[in-house]
Amino acid sequence: MAILNILTYPDKFLKTITEPVENIDESVVKLIEDMAETMYENSGVGLAATQVGSDKKILVYDISAEREKKEYQVLINPEIVSSEGEYLSEEEGCLSVPEYRANVKRSLSVVVKALDRNGQPLTIETEELHAVVLQHEIDHLNGILFIDRISSLKREIYKRRVKKHLKNK
Ligand code: NI
Repeated sequence: MAILNILTYPDKFLKTITEPVENIDESVVKLIEDMAETMYENSGVGLAATQVGSDKKILVYDISAEREKKEYQVLINPEIVSSEGEYLSEEEGCLSVPEYRANVKRSLSVVVKALDRNGQPLTIETEELHAVVLQHEIDHLNGILFIDRISSLKREIYKRRVKKHLKNK
């Protein structure tokens, strides 16, 4: 397994709209394992393929209390088929948006359809934190970062900070 490099804002690849996985071959299995290892190494709750430079519709996440077990979830070609309610998330963070957190307006509950790591269809109906993680990661697969969902004022402040930081490097 390999620890992959995580792309960070303003890397343009993070805007990539991913392509559905047609078949779960060896390269896909390896990508999933590497993504999970990368997520644990960086203490992330979830990781989407775009964050490691892949355009495949794949995400991994682990919201369990016992992360040392590394029993992560894999969703291939996930899609939100319905959502309900409004939910102001706890401050969200993202491995691709380092050193920044913000509350984000999310749906309270979602129904997600996807394939599992064996290519079997599954449906997840969930709410609150679990639903927020799914919305955040599925956003990544559509080229959207959580900072695209905060107020433009807050976003500009963050962007200015990154610009300044990059200039001083
Ligand atoms: Ni993220």
